[in-house]
Amino acid sequence: MAIILGIESSCDETSASICIDGEIKSNIIAGQAVHAKYGGVVPELASRAHQQNIIPTVDQAIREAKVHKNEIDAVAFTRGPGLLGSLLVGTSFAKSFALARNIPLIDVNHMQAHILAHFIEDPKPSFPFLCLTVSGGHTQIVLVKDYFEMELLGETLDDAAGEAFDKTAKILQLPYPGGPLVDKYAQEGNPDAFSLPEPQIADLNFSFSGLKTAILYLVQKHEKENPDFLQENLKDVCASVQARIVSILLNKVKKAAKQTGIKDIAIAGGVSANSGLRSALLAMGDRYKWNVFIPKFEYCTDNAAMIAIAGYHKYLKQDFVGQEVAPLARLHL
Ligand code: KG4
Ligand code: ZN
Repeated sequence: MAIILGIESSCDETSASICIDGEIKSNIIAGQAVHAKYGGVVPELASRAHQQNIIPTVDQAIREAKVHKNEIDAVAFTRGPGLLGSLLVGTSFAKSFALARNIPLIDVNHMQAHILAHFIEDPKPSFPFLCLTVSGGHTQIVLVKDYFEMELLGETLDDAAGEAFDKTAKILQLPYPGGPLVDKYAQEGNPDAFSLPEPQIADLNFSFSGLKTAILYLVQKHEKENPDFLQENLKDVCASVQARIVSILLNKVKKAAKQTGIKDIAIAGGVSANSGLRSALLAMGDRYKWNVFIPKFEYCTDNAAMIAIAGYHKYLKQDFVGQEVAPLARLHL
């Protein structure tokens, strides 16, 4: 039997999870409301909140899983990519825990973990499959050949998809993180109300910065004629923006599927919680006869269950790191 403690602290979520033989027994997430009024994550405040939250979060994860801390066989933690000050808190905690208990330490790549969240529950994809990983900091199309063998086929050249949602929300005067709110309003709006450009980017890469500018101009133009434009059209603007972001993403997925001939298609990362993306992917899957894999909501946004499951698969390979390991703000797949 293998009991793994997973720790996630790369951005603004402190999370701990217990995985027993590949099964997630707890997944505790402490969010950080402190960033809302700043319109984005303030790194200094994030590190401090992680420092406050880490012990209670781990404690709760252990209790909820009904294990004793002495039974834990290994500690897996997010090494990067992410905010360095935030990563340091989880890394230091994991190192101390492993040292005190004399158990192995496992480093996990956050972007790989988002993809490996697909191995928490059935149905699990089989290798090779394609994964569109869309989060606050990344937008990638990945060819997943094995648990830890992943090839980047395309990525964003500027903003990430989550950033596009969050920056749009800021223009629309919604609090951070705006993605879930844009999603909520979009569900009641008309996606054809406003036309927004689709950037022409080569290969399997993405660009979202032009979209942000187009939204800003659209709002400014209409507000000149009607100062209440935003209040009156918020749902339609959200629906139009969301539809465009989704079409930019899925057109590239379609291209990647065609290029590789792969029909097992997954999505991962915070933006994979988006209702428009989920339903459009399902529809596209029906049309092109794909096997579509969409994680449960709780495993889309940042969570330690994905770190624990990634840790479990590294544990099976005895792939451990030493106490000298340090977090990395930038880390490739
Ligand atoms: O994966 P994640 O939790 O953290 C990072 O690793 O970045 O992703 C966070 C991103 C944020 O940009 C947030 O606005 C976005 O995911 N997001 C959403 C939704 N839920 C979270 N974007 C659109 N629709 C949603 N329902
Ligand atoms: Zn993430």
